Amino acid sequence: MRRKIIIDTDPGQDDAFAILLALASPELEVLGLTAVAGNVPLALTERNARIICELAGRPDIRVFAGCDKPLSRVLVTAEHVHGKTGLDGPAMVEPTMPLEAQHGVDFIIETLRREPAHTVTLCPLGPLTNIAEAFRRAPDVAGRVQQIVLMGGAYFEVGNITPAAEFNIYVDPEAADIVMKSGAPVVVMPLDVTHKVLTTRARVEGFRALGTEVGRVCAEWADFFERFDMEKYGSEGAPLHDPTVIAYLLQPGLFKGRHCNVEIEVQSDLTRGMTVADWWGVTDRPANALFIGSVDADGFFALLTERLARL
Ligand code: BDR
Ligand code: CA
Repeated sequence: MRRKIIIDTDPGQDDAFAILLALASPELEVLGLTAVAGNVPLALTERNARIICELAGRPDIRVFAGCDKPLSRVLVTAEHVHGKTGLDGPAMVEPTMPLEAQHGVDFIIETLRREPAHTVTLCPLGPLTNIAEAFRRAPDVAGRVQQIVLMGGAYFEVGNITPAAEFNIYVDPEAADIVMKSGAPVVVMPLDVTHKVLTTRARVEGFRALGTEVGRVCAEWADFFERFDMEKYGSEGAPLHDPTVIAYLLQPGLFKGRHCNVEIEVQSDLTRGMTVADWWGVTDRPANALFIGSVDADGFFALLTERLARL
């Protein structure tokens, strides 16, 4: 049986890789994409989500617009990484497939109530606003989730948008706090793992060598966004954050982590959005997440490239 997922996303080129990986994978049934404000404002993230579905030849996928701002903060965006549209790099045509009329949060609630309990996995790739708002409005649904596999946070790598915080958690720390306290089974893909999957030249040329439209566009996206990270980190490529979430669903054996307690800093301005992970087990706070720390990077890129070749 195919695993049912909802991808909650703020595309972003790395979100695009994650969505394409999911749509290329017969093990997964994508029930819908819910867009959230994050890398760029909502009007662009919902548009970008539809562009990506059309690139994958899947205009039948349902795309919903969710929250246009964090629960209680002013929206912070990341055009400095992803460009003005969020998907800068190759020229993309405007999408023609429709946006669903229903609000993304209502879609999440309705889907979790309709499908049998513990059969729907949520895959958040941006700020956690939509998921938290669903749990806040409908407290019964958190207990019906099969798993939440999210990209966000950091422990050893600490931060990328501030010295203390990773972007997705920083943008809406109150939402992340609600999700981490929800009791749903959570798997976290922090910067500690995503900084190990770098778009080296050989890997990007591997996308281009597919000789397909998807391969070309993916290579050009990587060419665009890696400039910023290579300059920042002095690394031989950029971290490809969000597809780690989908890769984990397909091949969990590529990843290693620890069950531990993860709390979100919501009070301090200095460390806002920090993910305080008890990796070393120095408190008696109960484990609430599987916090991933390492990945077989070559295995990850082999999986990604092989799946992109199917589109
Ligand atoms: C995360 O922030 C966004 O810029 C990326 O899409 C990813 O989800 C990495 O910190
Ligand atoms: Ca993202």
